[in-house]
Amino acid sequence: MANIFPRWSNLLPLKIAVCAGSAAAGVALAFTYYATPKTLTVGYQPSQPIPFSHKIHVDQVGLDCRYCHSFVEVSGHSNVPGGNTCWNCHQHVQRESPKLAPLHKSMNPAFPGYDGKPIEWVRVHKSPDFVYFNHSAHVNRGVSCQSCHGDVHKMEVVWQDQPHSMGWCLDCHRAPENALRPLEEVYNFNYGDADVLKYTKDQGVKTTKDLGLKLKEQFQVNPKKSCATCHH
Ligand code: HEC
Ligand code: HEC
Ligand code: HEC
Ligand code: HEC
Ligand code: HEC
Repeated sequence: MANIFPRWSNLLPLKIAVCAGSAAAGVALAFTYYATPKTLTVGYQPSQPIPFSHKIHVDQVGLDCRYCHSFVEVSGHSNVPGGNTCWNCHQHVQRESPKLAPLHKSMNPAFPGYDGKPIEWVRVHKSPDFVYFNHSAHVNRGVSCQSCHGDVHKMEVVWQDQPHSMGWCLDCHRAPENALRPLEEVYNFNYGDADVLKYTKDQGVKTTKDLGLKLKEQFQVNPKKSCATCHH
């Protein structure tokens, strides 16, 4: 659904609701928000300056997400890697591939047309400026990239897999057990019920959700739901 009103018009009710701290207004707004479709930008898949494939680099080459998105567990923001990360390998591997011409343009002074400028990746996921989000607060508490970005390890071209709407954030903040994993499994994109046995001998704990409930209790995971959590 396209935005009928310009972004700034959305800010006004938000500011009124958050600043006034009015529970009634908040509930009313939250309700209207819930009534709107949850699929604002799901499927958004811009083409990128280099046809970079997560499928090749994660599934075939076997790289961990953190090799490239190196700040994701230490910072609120998950960085996209600079050309030097690619150049580490591609000054040797597939050096002659025409697909890598923009990388040579950025990194290889011997390349005709070299300009040393960073590669301009097109942003896929973007929360509005009035939303506060933090990556490390999630991945260090057992929420996987997969819950919010889908099966990235199989994507030739990244698309937005989940709505990233307010209702979507809140659905998980109310029931995080559906998503919680042992910290060792946050970067494992093949995590499933079969892995649960590694973590408990308790016969009652059979599914990832059972384990999620246990982890929630054990580590007292309790995501906040107040407006100020995500709107400072
Ligand atoms: C070899 C480096 C590399 C590895 C490893 C890697 N990525 Fe990426 N990732 C990139 C680059 C480059 C981009 C920007 C271009 C694009 O969107 O394809 C990107 C983009 C993304 C985006 C979209 C960013 C946006 O603009 O919203 C997500 C989400 C993402 N990666 C998740 C992951 C996950 C999850 C893993 C581990 C399964 C992973 N990546 C592994 C290099 C990497
Ligand atoms: C750890 C080493 C490594 C890193 C880091 C790496 N790659 Fe690769 N990349 C490979 C390998 C290995 C292949 C070839 C796989 C094959 O032979 O099918 C490849 C293949 C490619 C291809 C396909 C080339 C073709 O002609 O089919 C592109 C494009 C590419 N990489 C872009 C990138 C970009 C952009 C980055 C940085 C964000 C990057 N790679 C980082 C190892 C790496
Ligand atoms: C709880 C949900 C959630 C989890 C877990 C999560 N992300 Fe994100 N990710 C988001 C949201 C929301 C955005 C948009 C943030 C913004 O606009 O500030 C985003 C944006 C990104 C971006 C784009 C940042 C940019 O500036 O271009 C990358 C890259 C990314 N995520 C990678 C990852 C990786 C890798 C993991 C796992 C290690 C991960 N994310 C885990 C929700 C999540
Ligand atoms: C799949 C589950 C999930 C999704 C989706 C999710 N969160 Fe969270 N969020 C959590 C968990 C778990 C925590 C950690 C709570 C704790 O440490 O007790 C958390 C913590 C946070 C925190 C840190 C404050 C706090 O509660 O401790 C912020 C801010 C936050 N989330 C914002 C967001 C926003 C904004 C979105 C949507 C763009 C979002 N979250 C989506 C599960 C999720
Ligand atoms: C867990 C995080 C989270 C919490 C808690 C939260 N919000 Fe939001 N809110 C978001 C996100 C994310 C968006 C942006 C959604 C989008 O752009 O699709 C948003 C958007 C909004 C908007 C703008 C709607 C629009 O059309 O863009 C308003 C108004 C709003 N929130 C009010 C509130 C109020 C009032 C509360 C408390 C009752 C609240 N929010 C609690 C995450 C949160």
